[in-house]
Amino acid sequence: MKPTVEEILAASPVIPVVVLARLEEAVPLARALVAGGIRVIEVTLRTPVALEAIRLMREAVPEALVGAGTVTRPGELAAAERAGAVFAVTPGLTPPLVEASRHAGIPVLPGVMTPSEAIAARDAGFSHLKLFPAGPAGGVAMLKALAGPLPGLRFCPTGGITAESAPDYLRLPNVACVGGSWITPPAALASGDWPLVTGLAAAAARLARG
Ligand code: 3PG
Repeated sequence: MKPTVEEILAASPVIPVVVLARLEEAVPLARALVAGGIRVIEVTLRTPVALEAIRLMREAVPEALVGAGTVTRPGELAAAERAGAVFAVTPGLTPPLVEASRHAGIPVLPGVMTPSEAIAARDAGFSHLKLFPAGPAGGVAMLKALAGPLPGLRFCPTGGITAESAPDYLRLPNVACVGGSWITPPAALASGDWPLVTGLAAAAARLARG
């Protein structure tokens, strides 16, 4: 059974947003995150190795829910699905991406930043949205403001969230989980400091919601 977007967002309070520079980091990183209790992983399509990294992670660490991030074009959504991604995240939503999402075999978490974008996404059939970039969009205050007029929507705020600010976001009823890069510091990936990543993941996995 393929997980729904709701199940993916429920599987972890924090979705690590990963920028992978080297393919050899992929599998040890996925293992380090899962060892810390985080099994949802967003691999951004920002580096040439990203799609192959998704494929390797899925193969070697089948319990991980590996998705593709930074999907901005229909072709990237299709490529992510072919690589074995079980979900896709976009920083924004365009008509071509809406159309591609309808035909995709994996759930899409679309990015929005304004009430109009959230309404357009809702009307296109999405109930779970990424608020991006969450910090510049207004952070916790923005999410509180959106809850009144748009009660049916749940968010995964991402962008500018830290280990320190994540709990404030996770307390909000319209926040399903948060995304962030603090669990996977580039220096730790480059040096292979997997115990550090596991420790950061364990702390993030313990964060309470609601
Ligand atoms: C990104 O664009 O890389 C993600 O939104 C993560 O942002 P962050 O580095 O501020 O957590």
